[in-house]
Amino acid sequence: MGCEIFLHLFLIIMEKTLVILKPCCLQRGLIGEVIHRFERKGLQLCGIKMTWLTDELLAEHYAHLAAKPFFKRIKDSMMVTPVIVCCWKGLDAVEVVRSMAGPTNGRQAPPGTIRGDYSMSVQENIVHTSDSVETAAIELARFFSDDEIFEFDQHKFDFLYANDEL
Ligand code: TYD
Repeated sequence: MGCEIFLHLFLIIMEKTLVILKPCCLQRGLIGEVIHRFERKGLQLCGIKMTWLTDELLAEHYAHLAAKPFFKRIKDSMMVTPVIVCCWKGLDAVEVVRSMAGPTNGRQAPPGTIRGDYSMSVQENIVHTSDSVETAAIELARFFSDDEIFEFDQHKFDFLYANDEL
């Protein structure tokens, strides 16, 4: 019983990260493909919804790029269709998800990464992923309310991690 409580607590403190499936991902029919990759990797989906982003929200989300000439262009590109926002959980989830997405420029992203396999563009690069644990916490709070993130045990746990990784 004590062990189960410990495991449950551990699951709660595992890293969570934000992924946004961009309008180009929806337009190109890649939703299932991208989600499938994260699932097969062993990440746990603990929040997902379709939403139409606003200029205000995107100005906050891309604030680090506000001085760039392409700021309006990237905000506009994120409002062409709704997007799908997801929360993925796992050990080192932020870095794992980011490396699965690949570098920003799809033309330079290596084959095997999401951007490397599906994108020929810097802007139309299929997914947004959080770039650090701190940013992930801020971004998840930006796009999800507390009751939209679900904590539940996955029973395949023993086949995902070694004892000493938990
Ligand atoms: P950024 O946060 O730098 O990259 P990443 O998405 O890899 O974390 O940039 C946010 C988005 O802005 C990026 O996914 C695509 C777009 N962008 C451009 O269109 N041109 C650029 O020169 C850069 C740097 C980004």
